[in-house]
Amino acid sequence: MGVILEIKNLTKKFGGLTAVNDFSFEIQRGEFVGLIGPNGAGKTTVFNLISGFEKPNSGSIRFDGMDITGLKPFQIVNLGLVRTFQLVRSFHYMSVLDNVSVACLSPRGKKAAEKVGIDQYASRILSEVGLIDKARFPPVILPHGDLRRLEIGKAAGTNPQILLLDEPFSGLSYEEQEHIHALIRRLSNEGVTIFITGHVLRELMNLVPRVIAMHQGKFITDGTPQEVANHKLVLEAYLGRGGVIA
Ligand SMILES: Nc1ncnc2c1ncn2[C@@H]1O[C@H](COP(=O)(O)OP(=O)(O)O)[C@@H](O)[C@H]1O
Ligand SMILES: [Mg+2]
Repeated sequence: MGVILEIKNLTKKFGGLTAVNDFSFEIQRGEFVGLIGPNGAGKTTVFNLISGFEKPNSGSIRFDGMDITGLKPFQIVNLGLVRTFQLVRSFHYMSVLDNVSVACLSPRGKKAAEKVGIDQYASRILSEVGLIDKARFPPVILPHGDLRRLEIGKAAGTNPQILLLDEPFSGLSYEEQEHIHALIRRLSNEGVTIFITGHVLRELMNLVPRVIAMHQGKFITDGTPQEVANHKLVLEAYLGRGGVIA
């Protein structure tokens, strides 16, 4: 137990726009936490800052007891913090298996694969994400739901301590969402700390026990999905923009 991720007074400006504004929160090791807010709230920017894809104007990020503020994405991955992208990215013309194998070649992935070898370890991950039958396919021919599973499989290949999932349900059918739910729950049960964004609270409601809400770059509230969904400022943030709350 103990704190795995500690964000303090994080601020990120793009010109005149403050995308993340004096944002602070903590996540405990093994927790399963959602980050919600309407489109444009700053969720992806928070993930970009934590994973080293953007540098904050001010504030600090501590992961696993270390100050990781300003480190490069690959350094952060090698410490065990991995994120997926809202817009899925893969090596389109390499096989699905090779996409995961590349992730398993990262230092932490290699260590985890040591006993069984990269091929078998990557195949095991493909079974877990439900893509073993498509191991030899190039991702370019896969439907969107499969690509999202592959994205999570690649992240799992790096053997993370904490996994940041940016809108893993966006653009998926109900059935595809259920598959991803099951997959994420499994990773969580295996002890991986999970931090997940969504702009539709309903999608996270039955999945996470704790939700952090943000709006216009600012922290609003932190609590159970029920508490957060009923919070006055959360309702205002969503209804004010014509969003869907539940
Ligand atoms: N690279 C960027 N340059 C300029 N503005 C950006 C950039 N990235 C995000 N923004 C702006 O920051 C705000 C927060 O965006 P984002 O973090 O993507 O929100 P969310 O993921 O919650 O939808 C938005 O107003 C967005 O237009
Ligand atoms: Mg986003």
